[in-house]
Amino acid sequence: MNILVQLTYLISAVLFIVGIKKLNRTQEARQGNTLSSVAMLLAILATIVQVEALTLPEILICIVVGGAIGMFWARKVEMTQMPEMVAIFNGFGGAASFLVAMSDYWTRAVEQPDLSTDLVTLISILLSVLIGGLTFTGSLTAYGKLSGKVSGNAIVFSGQHLLNLILLIVTIICGVLIAMNTDSVVAMLVLAAIALILGVLVVIPIGGADMPVVISLLNSYSGMAACTTGFVLNNSVLIVTGALVGASGIILTQIMCKAMNRSLVSVLLGGFGATSGAASAAGGGSEMVIKEVGVEEAAMIFDSASSVIVVPGYGMAVAQAQHIVREMMDLLEKKGINVRFAIHPVAGRMPGHMNVLLAESNVPYDKLIEMEEINDDFSNTDVVLIVGANDVVNPAARTNPASPIFGMPILNADKARTVIVSKRSMAAGYAGIENELFGYDNCLMLFGDAKSTLTKMVGELKEM
Ligand code: TAP
Repeated sequence: MNILVQLTYLISAVLFIVGIKKLNRTQEARQGNTLSSVAMLLAILATIVQVEALTLPEILICIVVGGAIGMFWARKVEMTQMPEMVAIFNGFGGAASFLVAMSDYWTRAVEQPDLSTDLVTLISILLSVLIGGLTFTGSLTAYGKLSGKVSGNAIVFSGQHLLNLILLIVTIICGVLIAMNTDSVVAMLVLAAIALILGVLVVIPIGGADMPVVISLLNSYSGMAACTTGFVLNNSVLIVTGALVGASGIILTQIMCKAMNRSLVSVLLGGFGATSGAASAAGGGSEMVIKEVGVEEAAMIFDSASSVIVVPGYGMAVAQAQHIVREMMDLLEKKGINVRFAIHPVAGRMPGHMNVLLAESNVPYDKLIEMEEINDDFSNTDVVLIVGANDVVNPAARTNPASPIFGMPILNADKARTVIVSKRSMAAGYAGIENELFGYDNCLMLFGDAKSTLTKMVGELKEM
């Protein structure tokens, strides 16, 4: 039986790896998801077979209750609230690792002190408690910030870094005490409490546009905690999947930092919310000359174009305008106009946000072009339609060294012959800064909710 369980774990681990690999390509992402779901099912079945502490009905009750809560949540959540949901799920992952490691420690230190504990297991327990606890409270804090239950701005106070350092030193001392004597229950309780406190302290100084980066980092931590818990439980599939989540989370964090021109250290030291707030206040006074365009005139501009690039952003998600954008694409293509979509790596509020929305409205995958690939084409393009994007097309990232987003790679939408921007007002984007593009000679503002304006424009285009 044990060999069968181990073999199932192996198959499950391989399926997880292939599944993740497939998530790399939009065309194969659904298949990757299915493979990973099958892998999870196999892992659960193999675990149920060998668990002795719980009866089958008890396990099934847990699965049904947990599954029902997860399904209810996943169905209810809006696409724009996805980072919050990921935050809370990361937190649960961390909590699970924390509790498993604590209970394993309790068994070894209190209930069965005769049980021999090797150093690898002990270190795994310590790391699971530390990383799991930190991930749990850190993720809950991140959830609170993203959902507006806690202030989304960076919360900083003097001596913050020193306090973190002291807590870290006490943690190391506790870890050494436990390694020297497994029965040091008080040291373990102190270490667990510090892990929970550190989670809050590490996340509160982070604010504004840096939050999604932290979510990705916490996701990585939850993977690392699961991996170390795998060593505690001697469970190979947990080690492999935890390592996969840990590594992919770190890679994603790096990609996001690069796309926002931020270093991970500066993200972790925090304070972005405060900077962007000041920048927005400073930028608020400038006087740009804005040219407005009506739906009818905009439709005429599109009708006479031969190439169009659509730049989707967070506002498209808010307005749920992806379906009407697709309808517009179909209409323009029927008129012989070439339409493509330019995807910025951090457009929206989570990685792949725009890809998911456009896939949902059945925009063909080959129409979605990554920033590096399409950026040189803007200068040969007749019309760029910006749908609820702002920071990712802000030329200040190229031109203004004083801007908080200076150096961030952007889509060169401003280089097109005509730029039409669909948004509701002159309000700033996520970084809280003014966009000089809106005052450029080739830029026309199409004010209004993206879904309703584009619906009217599609109506006009149909009559042309
Ligand atoms: P943003 O810069 O946030 O701009 C979104 C724009 O959408 C706003 O200016 C808003 O203007 C407009 N909008 C909102 N609701 C709308 C509606 N119903 N109809 C039409 N327009 C609407 O978006 P972006 O360009 O996608 O940039 C993303 C930002 O998030 C960047 O700063 C990025 O660094 C940050 N960020 C993203 C990620 C990931 S992974 N995606 C991670 C970290 C940070 P109005 O209010 O005037 O309509």
